[in-house]
Amino acid sequence: MKNKIDLITNEIQNFKIEDAVSLEKFRIHFLGSKGIVKELFNDLKSVPNEEKREVGQLLNSLRAVAEEKHIQAKTTIDTLNCDLNQIDLSRTADDLQIGSRHPLMLVRSEIIEIFSRIGYTVSEGPEIEDDWHNFSALNFAPEHPARDMQDTFFIEKGENEMALRTHTSSVQVRVMENSTPPIRTISPGRVYRNEAISARAHCFFHQVEGLYIDKNVSFADLKQTLLYFAKELFGEKAQIRMRPSYFPFTEPSAEVDVSCSICNSKGCNVCKYTGWLEILGCGMVDPAVLEASGIDSKVYSGFAFGMGIERITQLKYKVNDLRLYSENDVRFLKQFTSGI
Ligand code: PHE
Repeated sequence: MKNKIDLITNEIQNFKIEDAVSLEKFRIHFLGSKGIVKELFNDLKSVPNEEKREVGQLLNSLRAVAEEKHIQAKTTIDTLNCDLNQIDLSRTADDLQIGSRHPLMLVRSEIIEIFSRIGYTVSEGPEIEDDWHNFSALNFAPEHPARDMQDTFFIEKGENEMALRTHTSSVQVRVMENSTPPIRTISPGRVYRNEAISARAHCFFHQVEGLYIDKNVSFADLKQTLLYFAKELFGEKAQIRMRPSYFPFTEPSAEVDVSCSICNSKGCNVCKYTGWLEILGCGMVDPAVLEASGIDSKVYSGFAFGMGIERITQLKYKVNDLRLYSENDVRFLKQFTSGI
């Protein structure tokens, strides 16, 4: 048996593979399902027990020699045979670059994750909205300045007024119209405002707005929810404070600041030496808004909040120019590769 293995090893080494035909012949002859190597493994049964181990090892290396020769010959023949017309000769030899997730999408996913842990669903809606969902159902008076041409990109004026949504509160109106409480949902999405583009303002940006409606929802629930959110996002030490504010669709309304995680509230140029950073607007949903969407305000109450994803990303990653988010500069985007 050992002699036979020697002979076959020689035979393998001397076999001339010159083209695809002889390559296939080689494969069938030595490595095929009825090939010599297989046959030898079958013969192993008749080898006396005390020799089995040694012969078995010899057979394994024989098979390895044959396989190695086959792979090498195949690679050479494939390269010679390849059709030059099918290769892009103008392509650089550089490795392909692997992309990274956009920082805004990283933060968006993180926000969604935080709220989904306390039972919030995700709802989406159209970017082109009618007046009802973007303004009227949300209690904006007909002459409210936010409806002005200065702020809103109108697509159609007049009776069938259509505009690019200025906030994702419009999605929440749609959710209220189409479901019965309890409602617990967040709506992430792109919104548009007619602003001159600068480091601090852009004509489009991204929001996540939240809505919770049930029986007996109170301002304390709102505060606790936002404190939970701030701690999940900025760390256990994060604190929040609320300042009275005004929105047409909430009463009372507040703006929420989070303690500055950059300087640990000691004061720095990002928090303008106040120790606090403004991150969102919120309030108890105005009963008129509930009624406009067909929800009985005597039975239900709720809260809403809304934040800009760019703003949160700016604080988390210390990005100080809004324009960077939409310029597609690889040097900027590459820095987020490891954040996936
Ligand atoms: N819709 C508001 C905005 O776009 C944010 C907000 C949402 C405020 C919900 C309060 C409650 O600025």
